[in-house]
Amino acid sequence: AGPTREPIDPVRFLSNRSSGKMGFALAQAAQRRGAAVTLVTGPVALADPWGIDVIRVTTAEEMAAAVLGQAPAMDVIIKSAAVADFRPASCQSLKIKKTNQGLRLDLIKNRDILAELGHRRQPHQVLVGFAAESHDHLSEGQRKLREKNLDLIVVNDILGSETGFDVATNQVTLIGRKEIHPLPLLSKEATADRILDRVVTLLGEKAIKE
Ligand code: PMT
Repeated sequence: AGPTREPIDPVRFLSNRSSGKMGFALAQAAQRRGAAVTLVTGPVALADPWGIDVIRVTTAEEMAAAVLGQAPAMDVIIKSAAVADFRPASCQSLKIKKTNQGLRLDLIKNRDILAELGHRRQPHQVLVGFAAESHDHLSEGQRKLREKNLDLIVVNDILGSETGFDVATNQVTLIGRKEIHPLPLLSKEATADRILDRVVTLLGEKAIKE
């Protein structure tokens, strides 16, 4: 859940507007259904939910270490975090002084945690990704589903005022290998439940195949 923060100097960082609401709603809905849940979250203002193991991280690298470390023991992995795609090439140990010139930042790419999860996925595991899209929702969702070796991708529209980052509601489309389910505008709690209904079906299908 949540964003990551990529430090520039001791007081500044690169990040995004993710509040963690979607990820926390998923963790709580899974816990209510009887799952043993580990929630890996970037910096958010939400309190630890009851009955859930919470691992708090700051940077994308810390999130990668925590998620990839926990992954082998998990039956279901849902990646709703808004991981920073880039980080400053170096973090200055002293605060960068304001000068009369502009400031140029060199950014390097963070590794894609979800793609690594897809690469390492065990046959019984259900892997769910999210996609935050402003346009070409379906084609982008289908591309990420395929390229990251996912069972399901939850595509958010992030341009509406009631959907996506830092609001209580979401409007998503669930894209699987064989089907597409557009959902209406719902609370993030109700969205989480609809995603988990689909996850339960996928777990059942995998159990039959084994
Ligand atoms: O936290 P909220 O305020 O409730 O907002 C919820 C949300 C909008 C953040 C959430 O619903 C959402 O869309 N999360 C994914 C945001 C995102 O980073 O999308 P993406 O299309 O850039 O990434 C695709 C997938 O790859 C995501 O599952 C992401 O977690 C994963 N990823 C991305 C980059 C990276 N370096 N590592 C990753 O694992």
